[in-house]
Amino acid sequence: MPGPPPRQRIRIKTEDDDDNEDEHDFTMERTIKAELLDELPADDPCAMGSRRDIHRLNFLMGNLGTLLGLMHTARLPQPRRLVELGAGDGRFMLRLARYLSRRWKSVEVLLVDRKNVVTTETRGGFAALGWSVDVVTADVFDWLRESSPHSVDAIVANLFLHHFPAPQLSELLRLAAARTRMFAACEPWRSRTALAFSRTLRFIGCNAVTCHDAVASVRAGFAGRELSALWPKDNHWQLRERSARLFTHAFVAEHVGERPYA
Ligand SMILES: C[S@@+](CC[C@H](N)C(=O)[O-])C[C@H]1O[C@@H](n2cnc3c(N)ncnc32)[C@H](O)[C@@H]1O
Repeated sequence: MPGPPPRQRIRIKTEDDDDNEDEHDFTMERTIKAELLDELPADDPCAMGSRRDIHRLNFLMGNLGTLLGLMHTARLPQPRRLVELGAGDGRFMLRLARYLSRRWKSVEVLLVDRKNVVTTETRGGFAALGWSVDVVTADVFDWLRESSPHSVDAIVANLFLHHFPAPQLSELLRLAAARTRMFAACEPWRSRTALAFSRTLRFIGCNAVTCHDAVASVRAGFAGRELSALWPKDNHWQLRERSARLFTHAFVAEHVGERPYA
């Protein structure tokens, strides 16, 4: 039997913490360029190296603590089903699950991504927590359209929403809002600080794919209340959006009031 997961020190960032509101850079227009990781076959060594880099970048950005803080603020009760859109190799969700499983038991996780790159070891990590995991290899738009309304308790996204231009993104958020009661995302913050950092990644050993995609991701990232503006207009949702730590843009939508479940 595998032992309990090692305890990591994660600082959960809540709304009371200071943010970097004064550094919003609205002069940097949002531009979306194809990312190399999306073009490469899943088993390409550069793609595999880049997924390892993303794991390290998630540590540096502090996205796990930020996402836990968002979920904490949204006061989500024990979920039955938790989904990550654009989940990649699933390791980010596994780290999240290691924290959440201290409170939430027997959760069903769905990892949705166009590429199936989730290893047996990662699947085993969920099983060791008493959680089940389903890997869905699909385009998120297809998956969202095919899944039933109100069928999910929480949807999370990490370094994923920035792939899409506003019209597609508002469609994605509309579909997600009809299926879940909480949606939380950590995305690149489109700021001078984040852009400067993204240009230095080769010095910390990131490969050429990551160096290219990191700059593209910051330019496609978010600032201000751009995600809130794309969320469906509906009084039943409480929205919070802010920059978090040095490089992240955080968004959470929480459904307030009663809602049926499928
Ligand atoms: C930057 S990676 C982030 C992976 C993961 N969230 C993490 O933090 O490690 C973005 C992921 O989105 C996936 N992706 C991009 N467009 C997609 C789409 N339309 N449908 C499903 N997955 C998509 C890519 O395959 C990739 O795994």
